[in-house]
Amino acid sequence: MLIPPAVIEEIKFRNDIESVVSAYVNLKPAGSNLIGLCPFHSEKTPSFTVFKNTQTCYCFGCGSGGDVVTFIMKMENLDYVSALEFLAKRVGITIPRNSNDEQRQVRSTRILEMNKSAAKFFHSCLISESGKEALEYLKKRKFSPALIKHFGIGFAPNSFDALYKHLKSQGFTDKEMISGFLCKMSQKTNRPFDLFRNRVIIPIIDTKGNVIAFGGRVLDDSLPKYLNSSDTPVFKKSKNLFALNYARRDCADRIILCEGYMDVIALHGAGFSNAVATLGTAITPEQARIMEKYTKSVVIAYDSDEAGQRAADKAFKLLGEVGLDVKILKMTGAKDPDEYIKKFGPERFKRLLDESKTHFDYKFESILSKHDVSQTPEKLKALSQVTDVIANVASAVEREIYIAKVSEKLDVTKDNLKHDVDKKIRQQIKEKQKNESRKIMLESAGFGDRINPDYAKNVRAASAEESILSIILTYPELLKKVKDGTAELCADDFFTAFGKKIFEKSIELYSDDISFDYGLLGSEFTPDEMGRITAIVLKRNKLSQNGEQELYDCIKVLKSEKEKQTASLTDIINARRNKQ
Ligand code: GTP
Ligand code: MN
Repeated sequence: MLIPPAVIEEIKFRNDIESVVSAYVNLKPAGSNLIGLCPFHSEKTPSFTVFKNTQTCYCFGCGSGGDVVTFIMKMENLDYVSALEFLAKRVGITIPRNSNDEQRQVRSTRILEMNKSAAKFFHSCLISESGKEALEYLKKRKFSPALIKHFGIGFAPNSFDALYKHLKSQGFTDKEMISGFLCKMSQKTNRPFDLFRNRVIIPIIDTKGNVIAFGGRVLDDSLPKYLNSSDTPVFKKSKNLFALNYARRDCADRIILCEGYMDVIALHGAGFSNAVATLGTAITPEQARIMEKYTKSVVIAYDSDEAGQRAADKAFKLLGEVGLDVKILKMTGAKDPDEYIKKFGPERFKRLLDESKTHFDYKFESILSKHDVSQTPEKLKALSQVTDVIANVASAVEREIYIAKVSEKLDVTKDNLKHDVDKKIRQQIKEKQKNESRKIMLESAGFGDRINPDYAKNVRAASAEESILSIILTYPELLKKVKDGTAELCADDFFTAFGKKIFEKSIELYSDDISFDYGLLGSEFTPDEMGRITAIVLKRNKLSQNGEQELYDCIKVLKSEKEKQTASLTDIINARRNKQ
């Protein structure tokens, strides 16, 4: 362990889970616990629970959970050590430095320092002799020097080790550069080489001002057009938005959501400083929730091509689900906002923004534009499509408004239209129930269990195993009995690899000198795995009081399942022998 257990204990003791979580979640008392809306998934009724007596939290909706360290890891996107540092800083504890720094895991804070250094390097390259062509390219795209500076745009030279050498001279290690997605190990030379070469570099900066990643664009039509940082210890593309660091100051009323970096840069340049973009992927629920924190409404300004419009449909759904007022901007004569502004100017773009339409109006118009409703068969097709759209609207009042609109426009009675919409809704519910029960069946059979894929292979053994873990993690005195051999249980008795690892690590971390709690496992497991471990521990609440007797009973079950397995293996081997 890199940070002494006593220090971890002190950090956790001083960071009461209630006060830490309260900074992110509005908590309300519920019995002896606290509940609030889960910050890790969208929900309308609270299922995120903070257990004050055990200083843990768990979401009964999405399965996130753990102790205060796991919570910060997930919330602030930090590794274990950095989350402890974050919490230590919060209460003014200084963590004693470890001497064998080189051996330490790559730390988030180091990668952030390295990224800042790399961003400065790229920018200085852009304004030096080697960046002439890149600067020319940006000028051609009408990016002013002020805008280039504002976004910290840079240039990665056409060299295999320019950045590598620079970062090396600044004291960053190969491991840090590789882990931060700036360099990659060459199989041929066995040396790291620069990943970003001969590209315009756009730094991705988070709301705290950290450079968390980079996007790199080629200067011509060669492919791939963009190279974007993969996820690193400091960057999850699904949880960040480009330019939110600027937009957050200016977006209380409205955010403009684009597809590309260049759209956002052009928009900011034209005075629309409330524009953001996803990071080269489709929008995620996390990103929708982030936007909901900063604004009331979002205007989707995606590319005007077919693919852009399909992506807009998905964005509509996700943004609507978190309660945002969503509109879509209809662009003609240009493929994306960057091109539009260049062709028609900011004034016209402003008009588009103000004319942006609700999802329904947008859909209805596009259905009408595809069908000649003066012809009956076409009109029926259009009606069927628009009924589908209305059936998908959750609010009955909203549906009523749309029904009125359509009945007027297509000259059908409201009653008949409502009848058809209700029928579609019933069909959809049936379909949904069918899918849900299928999903539940698959889940209960253990399919799709990413965290413990072995569970389904022997449910009896895996469930006994979970009971054992929940008991020894709840009562460390029983963990002690296992460790000193009073209770006969060893790692090889475990059936699933996940359970075995939890057991081994708990035994390893248990010591008489500290008060063991399962949160210590956070150094060895991912936040998602910690959520599952929390769920296992919570199972304890449902079990009988006599933990010790039950522990022995479950050990028996586990061992007998193991015997059966070996027995059946012996049978197979014998059967083979007999055949030969
Ligand atoms: P320009 O062509 O320079 O105007 O780019 P753009 O900002 O308009 O981007 P575009 O609409 O082509 O693509 C949207 C986003 O998808 C970009 O900002 C990138 O994040 C991502 N993207 C585009 N092309 C690629 C690619 O070839 N590889 C990867 N990984 N991402 C890409
Ligand atoms: Mn573009």
